[in-house]
Order: sequence, then C-alpha cells, then structure tokens
Amino acid sequence: MSGAPLRVLVTVGSRHGATAEIGAEIARRLAGNAAGLVAVPVPVTQRPDPAAFDAVVLGSAVYAGRWLEAAREYAAAHAPVLRTKAVWLFSSGPIGEPPFPPDLPHDVDPLTALTGARGHATFPGRLDKAHLTLGERAMVTAMRAPLGDFRDWPAVHAWADGIAAELASPAAVRT
Ligand SMILES: Cc1cc2nc3c(=O)[nH]c(=O)nc-3n(C[C@H](O)[C@H](O)[C@H](O)COP(=O)(O)O)c2cc1C
Repeated sequence: MSGAPLRVLVTVGSRHGATAEIGAEIARRLAGNAAGLVAVPVPVTQRPDPAAFDAVVLGSAVYAGRWLEAAREYAAAHAPVLRTKAVWLFSSGPIGEPPFPPDLPHDVDPLTALTGARGHATFPGRLDKAHLTLGERAMVTAMRAPLGDFRDWPAVHAWADGIAAELASPAAVRT
C-alpha cells in the first residue's frame, strides 16, 4: 500500500434527508479518525463512480421493507467494481423504542452477496410528519407509527470507527 490516504466513498439513498444526514456523519467520523482516511459523501442519485475509491459505504432509507430504488440500482450497476473494493452497507428506517419494524429489509442478503459487502448495520431513523407526502402521512397514521427522531448517533459513530479500524489494518484493502 502506498502512503496516500485511503479514499472512502459514502453514498446514500434518502427520500427525506434523515439517512443522508447519517451518511454525512459517517463520512465526518471516518475523516476525523486517526487512520487518516479521506471520506467523501455523495448522494447515490448522483451515481458516483466507485472506481476512484478504495472503500465504499452504501446506505439507504427503508420504505415498505425495501431499500430505495436508486440505492438498489446503484449496487446492481456497480457490482463488478464494488466486489473489488472494501464495502459496507447500512439501512436506516426502524423507528420507536424498541425500533419497529425489527426485521431486516428484504434487500440486505441479496445486496450483500451482490457487492461482496463485509458488513451491514441497521440504524434507527426519523419520522417527521412535516417532511412526509400526503400518501406517506396516511400510511404512517394507519400504521400508528411513532413520530420522532430516533437516530442513534453513538451507534453510527461506533460503526464508523469499526470501519476505520478495519481499513487501518495493512491487509484491509484488496487491490
Ligand atoms: C411510508 C413510510 C414507510 C416506511 N416503511 C418502513 C419500513 O418498512 N421499514 C423501516 O425500517 N422503516 C420504514 N419507514 C421509516 C423510514 O425509513 C424512516 O423514516 C427513515 O429515517 C427515512 O429516511 P429518509 O429521511 O432518508 O428518507 C417508513 C417511513 C414511511 C414514511
């Protein structure tokens, strides 16, 4: 490995901003880590080229049990390159205390296989009526979903620190 800092792409699918903010926080935490990483947050809708990076964190908000289409499409379109990188996935969606729904989004297993991801984390999300469309409000009301911001920043930091630690080890990155 050369002395150049490793470059990490943090790319996220987000409909109402809560998951984008988690991605930004992961990037900030990675960049602030002693490992000396460069971390770049880019919305997945901008289709960033993963070839320019050593590692990729790909995340998505979860709606009706699934990742957002843009994030799923990104994983599929870039799978051959992603499989040559160190990749981590995260989902954000469950709300309330304890977080609901408790089950993994349907996409986690196939996307892990597709991208060769090293790990996946689920982080609680935010449900704020002011951000929702009329249809979403109706669904949320029908489901009696708890409103609020349940994002767990210490858990996000701990996960990012684990990624930084793994990338700091000499055998971390496939070439
Ligand atoms: C209509 C609707 C359906 C949702 N369905 C799920 C779901 O199936 N599983 C889940 O974990 N979260 C679900 N959520 C919660 C969102 O994933 C959560 O609010 C998330 O933080 C939104 O992220 P975003 O602001 O980046 O879009 C749903 C939210 C809405 C409004």
